[in-house]
Amino acid sequence: MERIEILEMKDITKSFIGVKANQDVNLVIEKGDILGLLGENGAGKTTLMNVLYGLYHPDKGHIIVNGKPLYLRSPKDSMKAGIGMIHQHFMLVQKHTVLENIALGFDEAPFFFPQRYMRKQIEEYSQKFGLNVDPNKKIWELSAGEQQRVEILKTLIRNADLLIMDEPTSVLTPQEAEELFDILRKMINNGHSVILISHKLEEITSICNRVMVMRKGKVTGTALIKDVSKVDLARMMIGRELSGSLEKKEVKPGKPMLEVSNLSVNSDQGLPIVQNLGFNVLWGEIFGIAGVSGNGQREMVEAITGLRKSVTGSVSLEGKDITNLTARDIHNRGISHVPEERIKFGTVANLPFFENSVLKKHHKTPFSNRMLMNYPNIRDHAKNLVAKYNVDAASISVPVKNLSGGNIQKLILGREISSEPNLLIAAHPTYGLDVGAAEFIRKELINCRDRGGSVLLVSEDLEELFQVCDRIAVMFEGRIMGIVDPNNCNIDGIGLMMAGLEQQNQGENI
Ligand SMILES: Nc1ncnc2c1ncn2[C@@H]1O[C@H](COP(=O)(O)OP(=O)(O)OP(=O)(O)O)[C@@H](O)[C@H]1O
Ligand SMILES: [Mg+2]
Repeated sequence: MERIEILEMKDITKSFIGVKANQDVNLVIEKGDILGLLGENGAGKTTLMNVLYGLYHPDKGHIIVNGKPLYLRSPKDSMKAGIGMIHQHFMLVQKHTVLENIALGFDEAPFFFPQRYMRKQIEEYSQKFGLNVDPNKKIWELSAGEQQRVEILKTLIRNADLLIMDEPTSVLTPQEAEELFDILRKMINNGHSVILISHKLEEITSICNRVMVMRKGKVTGTALIKDVSKVDLARMMIGRELSGSLEKKEVKPGKPMLEVSNLSVNSDQGLPIVQNLGFNVLWGEIFGIAGVSGNGQREMVEAITGLRKSVTGSVSLEGKDITNLTARDIHNRGISHVPEERIKFGTVANLPFFENSVLKKHHKTPFSNRMLMNYPNIRDHAKNLVAKYNVDAASISVPVKNLSGGNIQKLILGREISSEPNLLIAAHPTYGLDVGAAEFIRKELINCRDRGGSVLLVSEDLEELFQVCDRIAVMFEGRIMGIVDPNNCNIDGIGLMMAGLEQQNQGENI
């Protein structure tokens, strides 16, 4: 089979009802390139890549490989041509083993002893690219990073020359992301090429050699990485400069809003994952939880918000015990929650946008009078959210599943923040958002605090925590290693705590 030396997408246009997702887009990628594809939420990145993968047929335009046109009717054709794609949400069968998943739909294995053949292939490719996985493990037993390696192996074994990855690091720990980059570098050295979709400027500048930026369906620029700065890229992405650090009102923190003491919580596997955790969030403060994902943050938030039972300890809100109440009870007492897996838990995919905009309060005034839903009010509310949060939706009647990932996020954040909760618990609220949208959300968190409410912010993004928080706790293996004042501490100390060292003399202990 001929290898891909140069691939061109020419004048690609693709519309959905009411939206031009791609307009006359041109893209070129050569063997050995890692091309970064950067752009705001809804810019059309995933759509363009779905065209290249044969999932969508463009309305106009064509694809050329090594000077010859390539016609794609389905992903089967693109795989045959050497194009592989790994979606943001993995498409593996959870109950099957790694081996079974890789073999699934692979029709080039010999008739006799196909298992032995697949095993050898996995071994060979694992070694060549440093893709460590145990072929006998079931998918549900694997971490996000390992599942991703299975997906990569799967495409490489199918002879992918060009690998498309849609926001691959959004599910990875920083450590796993580094491992992924090593794998990508090995691929490049072996004559493959990669298209990497990402929102993270840092990532694009450190791993890619070229970048293409999109905005509202069009290409706003392409460049060699060595010729552009992060500020240039941000400008191409959002059409304006990034503003500096964020302004906050002087608010004197009041009494405790949320008190967590001695809290222990088990993981899905029934193992202790949060252990004897204790902290307070005061009125009028943003309390941050830093730390690498997977150290019990998710389970802690679930226990506080009533989605998971705690084993020991207590949680109280404004002095009243709320330990292990139902999620609805806790919500009614004034806690709003932006969950980590927001698409799964935060919306109903098939319902239209406007109905999703009032979830959890659809049964209350002004959206209902106990008997009947007040649709004019609901629609008005939805329209306000669209305008205020700059949601890119064709109309408020589209089902939420048709929105891009980032726009779904804006919907949920807007819905939770606009209810003016006493306490807002937000887990990774700007994950997957572009620079402009992330900044807007951070300002909203600060507004929530400035009007006297409290915020518990769980994030992996230290820069974000430093921009908005009044105090930051570092969590490691289910415990708090220390609490610091962001205006008076050093980053190295926080790094050490994130790696499991208890707080020593890193700034003031508060
Ligand atoms: N299947 C679809 N039906 C209708 N509209 C769609 C569909 N897929 C995407 N769109 C719309 O096309 C536009 C581009 O979406 P796309 O998913 O390509 O953006 P993106 O750049 O990948 O954004 P994000 O960074 O948020 O993932 C958006 O306005 C989106 O709402
Ligand atoms: Mg996308």
